Order: sequence, then C-alpha cells, then structure tokens
Amino acid sequence: MDIDLKGKNVLITGAAKGIGRGMALAAAGEGANIALHYLGSEEAAARTANEIKEAYSVEVHLVKGDLAKIEDVTKIKDELDHRLGGIDCIVNNAGFSQMKSFFQYKPEEWKQEVDVCFYGVLNLVHTFMPEMIDKRKGKFVNIVGDSARTGDKHLIISAAARNGSISFLKSLAQEVGKSNVQCNTVSFGLINHGSLDFNEAALEKIAKQYPLKRLGKVEDVTGIILFLLSNHADWITGQVISVNGGHSMLG
Ligand SMILES: NC(=O)c1ccc[n+]([C@@H]2O[C@H](COP(=O)([O-])OP(=O)(O)OC[C@H]3O[C@@H](n4cnc5c(N)ncnc54)[C@H](OP(=O)(O)O)[C@@H]3O)[C@@H](O)[C@H]2O)c1
Repeated sequence: MDIDLKGKNVLITGAAKGIGRGMALAAAGEGANIALHYLGSEEAAARTANEIKEAYSVEVHLVKGDLAKIEDVTKIKDELDHRLGGIDCIVNNAGFSQMKSFFQYKPEEWKQEVDVCFYGVLNLVHTFMPEMIDKRKGKFVNIVGDSARTGDKHLIISAAARNGSISFLKSLAQEVGKSNVQCNTVSFGLINHGSLDFNEAALEKIAKQYPLKRLGKVEDVTGIILFLLSNHADWITGQVISVNGGHSMLG
C-alpha cells in the first residue's frame, strides 16, 4: 500500500518529543509538510524540526501555543495560513493528565486537564475545520489513551475529558461527512518512549498485563496515524481505533 502524503500540510500538536515527534518524522517520511506544534519544549521542537529537514525534502514550520486558549489557536492558524497556505489534516496529539485519585485533587487542579483534553479539541476544530469544509477535504485525528474508553481511577479527569472528546468527534463526523471531512480517534495503550514516570520494575509489571507481553513503542503507533491521514482512509469516520497490545478489547 502506498501511503502518499506528498504535498499535504499536516499540523501535529505536541510534536516536539515523544509520540508526537515520531508521528511528525513518519508523516514527513511520506512527503507531508509538517506544522510542528509545541508549547514549552522549544529546544526539543527545534531539534525535531532540524531532524526532519535533514532527512526529508518537505517544509517544516514550528508553531507555539496553548491549545486550551482559543486566541493561541487562532494565532497558530493565522501563522500557518501565511507560511504554509493552510492545513489539510490535523493530528491532535497534545495532552495533559495528572495521575492521582479523584480525592487527591483540589478543585482548582482538574480544570487544566479538561481545558487541554476536551476544550483543546473544540478550539482546534472550531478554528481549522471550517476551511476543510469549504475545501471539501480534510482529516482530524485525535489521540487519547484507552482510559478514555475504559475508565481509570488513576487518570480520572483526563479520561473523562477525553471520553467527551470521543463523543464530540462522533457527532461532528455526522455533520461534516457531507463535506468529505473525516474525524477519528486513536486510542493508545502504554507507549514507552523513554521518559515515562515509571521505573523499570513497574514497567515490566505493567507489560505482563498485556496480551502481547510488552509495552508499545513509538513505531507501533505511527502506522495507524499515517493510514488515517492517507486517502486509503477516505471512508473511515467517527471511529475509535485502539492500538494497545490488546490491553483492552472493546466491542
Ligand atoms: N505515552 C503513553 O503511554 C500514552 C498512552 C496513552 C495516551 N497517550 C497520549 O498520547 C499523546 C502523546 O503522548 P506522549 O507521552 O508522547 O506526550 P505527553 O507528554 O503526554 O504530551 C504531549 C505534549 O502535549 C503538549 N501539551 C501539554 N499541554 C498543552 C497545552 N495546554 N497546549 C498545547 N500543548 C500542550 C506538551 O508540549 P510541550 O512539551 O511542548 O509543552 C507535551 O509534550 C498524549 O496526548 C498522551 O496523553 C500517551
């Protein structure tokens, strides 16, 4: 199968490092021009952009902003309109979660998770999708963790916010399908990109819970993203696709 993203302008959020970095490199490898978004990881973002430029003949533009703030998202769009002439596809990979029991939260601590994991999606869609609708072509892929589908007592707020984003994208898919815009969610199991907040012993213990007996690697999840951005996925919308080593099996 030829995943051809040549000439497509793809915005990947939270792409300085970790999984987002892997997605940006993989999409550039298929010929996409990359709008590489970051918030605080400026040096890592510049490094990733340079890596892409050295390896592939595509355009790469760095954009910075807080996705929880609509004014930042608007600024990102203005900048990308000017520099890339618009965005064809978005992978919203940015996320913010805190691992603790609900009763350890102070009320002022949960808002940021909802602001990034739920309102961030609305901010991106409201700002970028009208142009996709006008052009009658566009793809929006939102990243969540399986906790958004199964619940997780340690990720209780981000899981709830992301469950909301799943429902939002299904409803949206119903509205924008007539304009040939596809909206899908990709749900990950634990992906070890080298800087998870677990020690080796804990990671080994978690890996044993997976039917495939290992945690995910960044390369395990980039393929589905490339596929969903490609023309091969033109008839797939409103779906939630788990890439999770079999950890949860939802009907
Ligand atoms: N790693 C896993 O095992 C796993 C499992 C399930 C789901 N996921 C999801 O997969 C995605 C990538 O995971 P990851 O572990 O590579 O990275 P991550 O550390 O969870 O987050 C990715 C990026 O989100 C950005 N971000 C946070 N708050 C933001 C805000 N207000 N506005 C804009 N950007 C913001 C940060 O960018 P800066 O660094 O530039 O500030 C961060 O690097 C995340 O959405 C994560 O929740 C990961």
